[in-house]
Amino acid sequence: MNFNALSAPSASPAPPGAATDWTVPQEWSAYTAAEHATWNLLFDRQMAVLAERVTPAFLRGVDALQLSRQGVPDFSELSERLHALTGWTVVAVPGIVPDAVFFEHLSQRRFVAGRFIRRPDQIDYLQEPDVFHDVFGHVPLLADPVFADYMQAYGLGGLRSLRFGALPKLARLYWYTVEFGLIREAGALHLYGAGIVSSYGESVFALDDASPHRIGFDLRRVMRTPYRIDAYQGNYFVIDSFEDLLRQTLDADFAPLYAELEDQPDFEIDIIVAGDRVIHRGTQAHTRVRVP
Ligand code: PHE
Ligand code: FE
Repeated sequence: MNFNALSAPSASPAPPGAATDWTVPQEWSAYTAAEHATWNLLFDRQMAVLAERVTPAFLRGVDALQLSRQGVPDFSELSERLHALTGWTVVAVPGIVPDAVFFEHLSQRRFVAGRFIRRPDQIDYLQEPDVFHDVFGHVPLLADPVFADYMQAYGLGGLRSLRFGALPKLARLYWYTVEFGLIREAGALHLYGAGIVSSYGESVFALDDASPHRIGFDLRRVMRTPYRIDAYQGNYFVIDSFEDLLRQTLDADFAPLYAELEDQPDFEIDIIVAGDRVIHRGTQAHTRVRVP
């Protein structure tokens, strides 16, 4: 099986100034004092709100990687620490990269991160992932051996999904785990998804708000559930452990699953479905009313 999608003639060429794998130098010395200050502000605010909310594995990662309020991390130092722990590195890219490029990097244990940081007027919200989302949100869990394996498996699965035209289904798995996942540990819900943990508002909403459904993770359910990119989520799916997530995904052959799901309709975003392991039935007030 050829996973080297980059050599495929159909792959889009990298933009000028980028290598053929779309990576660019981070140019750490080009960050201004104001940009480092933005990182520090976001770092302090998230560490305070996450203390009692995030999975302990995330805090262990922050600690082991020495992420801190010392400004935007230098990717080469960060990669050195991360590589020693789980074999992952962090590489800079100019922005959103093509799916095949993204999956190829993940499959090689390289996490692609944006290098720009949001402007001060975007502290609370921005649509495009910046270095705070990519590094603070995603990288701490890459220091966890099991989560690190899941991310690599996802990259390989992503390349494979392209051949079945099944990326939209697989993308939902990424969305509801890597970006917006919850985990139940010692009976309590905790955050682990990067889209949540890099957002002050959603770090509170995902655990405390009455609006969203919180449902036990199920692969088929997740693949049939659309998501919103412009608002807090209507559904959060809850895993029992990273081991369990890895087992349910790595050990399954998704090819028959994609075929099976082709004939099945998507679920409405605000409903509870027969078979759901409902942990909290949401009011869906946010989904129905608010359009930010
Ligand atoms: N098992 C999946 C497949 O057959 C690959 C995969 C593993 C996808 C882990 C996501 C996460 O395609
Ligand atoms: Fe992300």
